[in-house]
Amino acid sequence: MALPLILDCDPGHDDAIALILALASPELKVLAVTTSAGNQTPDKTLNNALRILTLLGRHDMPVAAGAPRPLARELIIADKVHGESGLDGPRLPDPAFAPQAMTALELMAQCLRESPEPVTLVPTGPLTNIALLLAAHPELKQKIARIVLMGGAAGPGNWTPAAEFNIYVDPEAADMVFKSGLPITMCGLDVTHEAQVMEEDIERVRAIPNPVAQCVAQLLDFFMIYHRDPKWGFAGAPLHDPCTIAWLLAPSLFHGVECRVDIETCGIHTLGMTVVDRYDLTGRPANALVLLGLDRVGFIELLVQRLQTFG
Ligand code: BDR
Ligand code: CA
Repeated sequence: MALPLILDCDPGHDDAIALILALASPELKVLAVTTSAGNQTPDKTLNNALRILTLLGRHDMPVAAGAPRPLARELIIADKVHGESGLDGPRLPDPAFAPQAMTALELMAQCLRESPEPVTLVPTGPLTNIALLLAAHPELKQKIARIVLMGGAAGPGNWTPAAEFNIYVDPEAADMVFKSGLPITMCGLDVTHEAQVMEEDIERVRAIPNPVAQCVAQLLDFFMIYHRDPKWGFAGAPLHDPCTIAWLLAPSLFHGVECRVDIETCGIHTLGMTVVDRYDLTGRPANALVLLGLDRVGFIELLVQRLQTFG
């Protein structure tokens, strides 16, 4: 039976590819797509989710807009990575359907209530909506199977020396999620920086004769630009968000450790840091499976294979 999940995303090039990978995978049943403010302003991330779903012909998908800003801070956006639209690069169709009249919080709560089995939450943006859900509906925690998130790092950050973007944007929300007691899989930069797509992989995607793969190739062309800066030391571009879906589909491609992870919410130099207790120095119970690496070739094969399934 397909695993029920809700994608909470801020598309975003890699969010869009995570969504496409999920919807190409019969092992997964995407119940709803909710959007967070992050890579771009909330109106743009919502519009981008609708545009990608329109491209996929998935007008049936319930989509709802999330919180307009982080819990306690001003919104920071990543337009230097994702461009003015948040999905610069390909020409995408205008949305052919409307979002739900309800909020992301209400849609997630409704999906959890109605699902006969626990649902996996897959946030690939700041954790604002997930924190609000946990605070507003503690009674629904039992309907959450696991939170598989993209965020954080055991090593250095990518937005500040200490912090990864998604956690840095809303550290208070991340703190609530990591303290929730729910099973968490953390796809942080330790693994996502290994999940690099190379130029030759993009050419493989471009050779797949369907419009979705063509769009993904153009998304990747744009995503490459920011990551070509030699300061990163990358040979390609890190496909952060699709790691969440790939872990659900093929966990054997990944390795990681169960650790205690705490969120820095007031550090002068370390705000938004995920403090990962790799060596059990605190003696506190583990609260996350922290992924540390993956089989890159297997990961790219999975993506290419799923892109071939579109008509
Ligand atoms: C994360 O930040 C965003 O720009 C990406 O979509 C990803 O979720 C990586 O730090
Ligand atoms: Ca994202």
